[in-house]
Amino acid sequence: MLQIKNIYKEYKTGSLVQKVLEDVSLNLRDNEFVAILGPSGSGKTTFLNIIG
Ligand SMILES: Nc1ncnc2c1ncn2[C@@H]1O[C@H](COP(=O)(O)OP(=O)(O)O)[C@@H](O)[C@H]1O
Ligand SMILES: [Mg+2]
Repeated sequence: MLQIKNIYKEYKTGSLVQKVLEDVSLNLRDNEFVAILGPSGSGKTTFLNIIG
């Protein structure tokens, strides 16, 4: 249903570069229920924004 392949994302704030997602891949099947888990600041919202 949804295939995510080799996603990278970094935020640049002035001279600071923060790597948030590094080579993330994911396959979701039809009707599959998935939860994205991880500590605060691990990149969940960034990842979902990219999917959106
Ligand atoms: N717009 C932005 N600009 C700079 N840094 C950001 C921005 N959005 C998120 N970050 C940073 O990216 C990291 C991941 O954030 P986020 O995706 O919100 O994580 P989560 O949703 O898992 O808590 C955090 O260190 C956060 O401070
Ligand atoms: Mg979040």
